[in-house]
Amino acid sequence: MTPFGSPDANWPYPCWIAHRGAGKLAPENTLAAFRLGAEHGFAMFECDVKLSADGEPFLLHDTELDRTTNGQGVAALLKWDALSRLDAGSWHGRAYAGEPLLRLDALSRSLQALGLMVNLEIKPSTGDDVRTGRIVAQHVARLWAQAHVKPLLSSFSVEALQAAREAQPELPRALLLDKWVSDATDLAHSLGCLALVVNQTQLDEQRIAQAHEAGLRVLTYTVNDPSRASTLWLSGLDGLITDRVDLFEPQARLGANPARLMFEAEELIG
Ligand code: G3P
Ligand code: MG
Repeated sequence: MTPFGSPDANWPYPCWIAHRGAGKLAPENTLAAFRLGAEHGFAMFECDVKLSADGEPFLLHDTELDRTTNGQGVAALLKWDALSRLDAGSWHGRAYAGEPLLRLDALSRSLQALGLMVNLEIKPSTGDDVRTGRIVAQHVARLWAQAHVKPLLSSFSVEALQAAREAQPELPRALLLDKWVSDATDLAHSLGCLALVVNQTQLDEQRIAQAHEAGLRVLTYTVNDPSRASTLWLSGLDGLITDRVDLFEPQARLGANPARLMFEAEELIG
């Protein structure tokens, strides 16, 4: 395992990842957010994917439409035609009025045109885990067929990850953990995952080392505090998901892990 999150053939991803496109600086999970995150130098983005009533994968964090669109109620009850007419930007501010919900195929085109990478969090609507895992994996395999770097699929839902694996076993997967569990590494292995993506409050050096010993990369969400970020990098973290695309911009531009840069600088200074 390469230390300090360096990309290699099995793990081509950068260590800085923008949460929901650009954190809270733009309407989450919209194209405007990805654009802003990219302007701040991020090369990889986390976002949340679920299905419309007619099985179209699109980006939305919540089960309901109310917080981040001008729609109401459970998103999964609407077909894409109705979802596509909603305003997913005005809630954030007038500058983003009219920003639409983003379908996975549109995201795929935009990211690949710019050579950007993505961590697709499979976020099933209630009771829709298996169908969401399967359909998202099928769409990803088709939409990113020509891409050298495939999206990293992740989920809190074991059922969704299992369904994604059965549908498209070659796509890279990661298990999301809001709470650390003693069998975390075994569970990840049983799902054929390459990585754990763990709530930052649950991580320490020992758990990162335990995952590394099991051959797993360790990513964390959502770190917005520079001193917490430094602690985790020095503990061996491989990837960090942040809202603060403005704060961590310089490191993101370098595309490198600050802990490693620190060590390299120390070596140069002697
Ligand atoms: O994928 C990491 C993180 O996004 C998981 O939590 O609620 O922000 O989707 P949430
Ligand atoms: Mg998410």
